[in-house]
Amino acid sequence: MQRTWLIAANWKMNGSAALVDEMTSVLANITNSQLQLLLCPPATLLCRFKTARNFALGGQTLSHEVSGAYTGELSAALLQEAGASYVIVGHSERRTLNAESDELVAAKLARAVAAGLTPILCVGETQMQRQQEKTQQVIARQLDAVYASQPELLAKSVIAYEPIWAIGTGESATPELAQQTHAFIRQHLTQYDAAAAAKVKLLYGGSVNADNCSALFMQTDIDGALVGGASLKP
Ligand code: 13P
Repeated sequence: MQRTWLIAANWKMNGSAALVDEMTSVLANITNSQLQLLLCPPATLLCRFKTARNFALGGQTLSHEVSGAYTGELSAALLQEAGASYVIVGHSERRTLNAESDELVAAKLARAVAAGLTPILCVGETQMQRQQEKTQQVIARQLDAVYASQPELLAKSVIAYEPIWAIGTGESATPELAQQTHAFIRQHLTQYDAAAAAKVKLLYGGSVNADNCSALFMQTDIDGALVGGASLKP
C-alpha cells in the first residue's frame, strides 16, 4: 500500500525563537505532495509559528486530564489552541524519566484522540531487551496496553518505532532491522483492526539523519521518521 511519508521533528528541550524563524523559512521551499512535515517544538514555542506555513505542529506530551489543578501540565485543548494538530505520546524519555506507565500512556492517547489531536505513539526496546531477544515481546506489550481495550483508536494513530539504544547514540537501526520490526508491528496490529493496520503510518526514530534516511524510507513498512538531534539543523 502506498502511504504518504510523514517526517516529524522532535526538538525535545531544544530550540529557540530564532530557530522557529529559520526553520519556517527553510521549510517554505519544500514542495512535495508525497511528504507531510511536522515540527514538535517545546510547547512555549508553538505560538511563535505563523498560521500560514507548509507544515503541521505537534506537542511532545499532554496530560490525560481535561483541565484542572495540574501544575505544569498541558491539556490537549491548550496544545490545540497553540496550533498543534499532533502530539507525541509515550516517548521513551518520558516513560523513563517521568515514570509514565503503559496505562498512563494509553489514557493520554485516548485523551488526544478525543480532543481531535493525532497521537504519535512511541514504542521501542532497550539495549538489554534487544540482547535478550525480547524486542517483539516488549513492543507487543506497549501496543496491547493501548489498543487491546480501545482498538478504535488505531485508525486515528501514528506509531513510531524508536529503539532506545538508537536514540541519540548515532547508532541507527539498519534499514533491514527497522523494516523487520515495523512489519512485526503492522502484523501485530491486524488483530485490532486489519484495515487500520494496513493504513497506519509507522515512523522509525533513532539517530535518523540526512545520510541514512533514504535507505530507511525505501523499506516497505517505514512511512517516515521521528527525528531528534538532526531535526535541529535547518
Ligand atoms: P535522535 O534522532 O536524536 O536519535 O532522537 C530520536 C528521538 O528520540 C525522536 O523522538
